[in-house]
Order: sequence, then structure tokens, then C-alpha cells
Amino acid sequence: MTLTPDLYQRFIDLIYKRTGIWFETNKRYFVDKRLDERIAELGLENYREYYQHLKFSTDQTEMQQLINRLTINETYFFRDFPQLQGFAEEVLLQVVKDKVAAGNRKIKLWSAGCSTGEEPYTLAIILLEMLPEPETWTIEILASDINTRVLDVARKGYYNSRSVKDVPTEYLERYFARYREMYILNNKVRNMVNFKVINLMEQHEMKLQVDYDFIFCRNVLIYFTPESRLNVLESYYRSLKRGGYIYLGHSESVARITDAFKMRRIGSSIVYYKP
Ligand SMILES: C[S@@+](CC[C@H](N)C(=O)[O-])C[C@H]1O[C@@H](n2cnc3c(N)ncnc32)[C@H](O)[C@@H]1O
Repeated sequence: MTLTPDLYQRFIDLIYKRTGIWFETNKRYFVDKRLDERIAELGLENYREYYQHLKFSTDQTEMQQLINRLTINETYFFRDFPQLQGFAEEVLLQVVKDKVAAGNRKIKLWSAGCSTGEEPYTLAIILLEMLPEPETWTIEILASDINTRVLDVARKGYYNSRSVKDVPTEYLERYFARYREMYILNNKVRNMVNFKVINLMEQHEMKLQVDYDFIFCRNVLIYFTPESRLNVLESYYRSLKRGGYIYLGHSESVARITDAFKMRRIGSSIVYYKP
């Protein structure tokens, strides 16, 4: 069974159209391995048969299976601590102050590409710590991902020591219970986050997301092309309130993709907002 360069390219194009993720040629071993696994599990004869199944089947189950294997889901609590500190101590406090002055006690956040949930739960903990009388606020945290497997893990709220390595001890004691080798997030934090499957490339679903104060989409668009990145950032522009903020990962830059957002420097981090 051989995968010709032409057929490989067709798989890559198909995956790209569906997810926005582009696999460079140097990722071929990674993609091949996942294709081989699925072909073996389905008992198919060859790559062409699998390609046709993916492309022409009206049932999206197999495409979802493949996506679940192809996405990179690396994450942990309090990832990029300095960026989150800038968010918590400067940006969030300013937004909260403005809201309180306007008599508005509702705050809406979206963690897009949330993987196994560490990022949205981190944001929930930050809100509990930073909001004055958090119980008097309406807090909405949407956490979404294209990968259904990671969302199942996220909803459970059980984590290993690697996931919580950057959680300050004080928060670890306040928000987690220890069971053997696992750290179990308490229900108060778990119940603050609503998990949903959203493919960032699906316009229909993206248009439903409106009025966000903050969107976190960290370490997601690095796997996209300039075109699919722009597409997603245009959606985020619509989804944010005027004055709302977008956070990308450490090595990612909104400015290189679009000039629709304005930049602010906070300590060593950069943040963008919708003017
Ligand atoms: C490396 S993780 C980042 C997790 C977290 N944001 C962080 O920074 O720790 C990237 C996540 O983006 C998700 N993702 C990739 N393409 C996506 C798409 N088209 N729609 C929604 N999520 C996507 C992947 O499934 C993966 O869980």
C-alpha cells in the first residue's frame, strides 16, 4: 500500500478545507501514521478507498475521527503566566471598572481551541479571584474545540500533575481536590464553563458568537495558513464587542494578519482590541 504524492496532497487539501489546518510536507510522517491507523481500524484496502470515503460520505463521523487524531492538543493551566498576569491585573481590572461604572455586571469570555479545558478553567479561576464579589456577576465562559475527544476530557475536570504544574499552590488548594495522582477541579469552577464543538472554519456557527468582552485563541492559528487565519480573525472581529480584547499565543501576531485590531503593550506581552 503506497501513498503517492498526488493522493497525499489531496488528503492535505481535504483536511485544510475542513479545518483550516495546513500540514507542511515535513509533517508527512505524522499524517501518514494517522491515516494508516484509521485505514487499519476500518479494514480498508488502500489510501484511495479511504480518501473516497472521507470525501464523498455524507456521514461526517470518519472525518471527525481523523480530525481527533490530527489536531495538536498540548495545553496546561496558567500557560503563558506573564500574559495572563497582564490580563488579570491590568486589562480585566480596567474592563471591570468600566462595567461597574456603567452598572453592567455581565462578562463574556470565549476560549476558542480550548483543548482539554485547562485554558477556560484558568480563566474561570482568574475571574473568581479578580472580580469584586464574583457571585454578583453574570459570567459566561464558552470553551470550544473542533476535537470532540478533548472536549470529553475537558468536561470531566480531572487533571494530572503535568497539567497543573504552573498553578499557584494557593489556587491548587482552593480549587482542586487531590485523588491519588489526579487533581480534580471543584464544581464551582467546572460549572462556570460551557463546552461546545465549534469548528473555527464554519461560518454559520461562528456568526452565532457575539458580544464577547474577551476571546482567547492561543496556540491555535499557528497551524493555519495566512488565508485561514484571516478568515478566523474576521469572525472574531464580528464576535467581539467594541473595546473587546483578543489574546493569541506568545509567538502569534494579529498585526501580521490584519490591521482591523489595535495593539496594546502590557508588560512583556502584547494584546489586541477591537477599536
Ligand atoms: C495546542 S491546542 C491550544 C490549547 C489552548 N488554547 C492553549 O493555548 O493551551 C490547539 C487546539 O486548537 C484546536 N483546533 C485546531 N483547529 C481548529 C478548528 N478549525 N476549530 C476549532 N478548534 C481547532 C485543536 O483541536 C487543539 O485542541
